[in-house]
Amino acid sequence: MKKIVVLTGAGMSAESGLKTFRDHDGLWHDYRVEDVATPEAWRRNMDLVLEFYNERRKNLLDARPNAAHFALARLEGKYDVNIVTQNVDDLHERGGSIKVLHLHGELKKVRSSVDPSLVYELPGWELKKGDLCEKGSQLRPHIVWFGEPVPLIAEAADLCERADIMILIGTSLQVYPAAGLIHYVFAGAPKYYIDPKAVEVPYIPKLEIIRKTAGEGVPDLVDRLMSEV
Ligand code: OAD
Repeated sequence: MKKIVVLTGAGMSAESGLKTFRDHDGLWHDYRVEDVATPEAWRRNMDLVLEFYNERRKNLLDARPNAAHFALARLEGKYDVNIVTQNVDDLHERGGSIKVLHLHGELKKVRSSVDPSLVYELPGWELKKGDLCEKGSQLRPHIVWFGEPVPLIAEAADLCERADIMILIGTSLQVYPAAGLIHYVFAGAPKYYIDPKAVEVPYIPKLEIIRKTAGEGVPDLVDRLMSEV
């Protein structure tokens, strides 16, 4: 089976009703990254950080996977598919994808603010000040904030190095190290980038840019790839 690695960003979930970050109606227009998505923000204003992620969790409860999530799951019938997602939602899993690596963490999980190995599923949407891990430390969102290491990046790079095909979906490619993963993929491997505002990526051979939404572009590409094997 050929190996496909799929790198997804917020645009993947846009048609499920979840906001992206950098579009004109995106989250980073209503909030400053420095206020809600850094370790300093957590120390300075824990209430605002908790509120921001509680709101994201509430939105996720109302969201359903879209046609693009379901199409990617279909691809597993003929390919060995690994999803590497920057998204913290669980829509890939709910759409039926089996191997999903969450580069930037998971909204439905929380962890100790002292011991990162103590990770828990959060029942419901609300994480509050005073919610503690088993060792008595405050729980924090299980999210990779700006300025923090990305623990799964080596695993993601390894998947890219072994991929026969790469698909990028709904990402502005502004945030590293995720945006650099495409450079790990073999030059001869076909690469597809589906995003209505796909940015030009220099020095990448065999890259086909498809300027469509995920809901339009992904099912079409999946049909194409399924007919090739
Ligand atoms: P961005 O908000 O930077 O980019 C979203 C991309 O999705 C843009 O390129 C849009 O053109 C595209 N898009 C919008 N609607 C779409 C649709 N219906 N179908 C397909 N594409 C669509 O989001 P990311 O690239 O995911 O990290 O951002 C990367 C990281 O920056 C996020 O994981 C998050 C953020 O800060 C953290 O919070 C740690």
